[in-house]
This record gives sequence, C-alpha cells and structure tokens, in this order.
Amino acid sequence: IKVTFNTADGEQIVAEGTGGSMMELALENNVPGIDGDCGGVCSCATCHVHIAQDDFAKVGEPNDIEKDMLELTNDVSGTSRLCCQVPLSEDIDGISVTVVRD
Ligand code: FES
Repeated sequence: IKVTFNTADGEQIVAEGTGGSMMELALENNVPGIDGDCGGVCSCATCHVHIAQDDFAKVGEPNDIEKDMLELTNDVSGTSRLCCQVPLSEDIDGISVTVVRD
C-alpha cells in the first residue's frame, strides 16, 4: 500500500507499507513533520495531514473525536485528517497527502 507524503519543505516521500496506521508508516519512513507524540491515540495532532482533494473520498471523514481534536490545530482544511486514525488498507493505496506543520 503506497502513500506519497509531501512535506512542508516541498520534499516528496513515497512510502510503502502493509498495515498499521498512516502515522506509523510516516514514522518508519522519517517523514518530517509527523511526530506521533501521543502514540496514535488521537490526542496530540502532531500527525495532521491534508489529504489530496481527489483522494479524500477514499479516506473519508474523521469521526467526532478526531474532529474535536482537529479544531484545536492550525491550518485545518476540508480534507484534514489525523493520520494515526487512518488505517493502511487497499482502499487508500496510491493516495497523496500533504504534511501540516504544527
Ligand atoms: Fe497523536 Fe495522531 S499521533 S493524534
């Protein structure tokens, strides 16, 4: 399952994984700007990304807990997600996301 991370510095990191969350994949690939400070329990927002508009339907809307957390972060967009809440699945294979700096 492939995910392309576009960093705040304009770098492009193509990462590939088979399971876990998108946040874990980012950490494994040292994607700058994804810290995963809370360990993936939706309470730190250091894993905030904007999903590419065309790919958002594959990922879907955040749940209410994630929405509340997103409201506290900078730069929220209509395609914002906390990527620890996005499981790597075949459904999202090939998507692009942009890392948001906190
Ligand atoms: Fe903390 Fe995603 S890793 S909210």
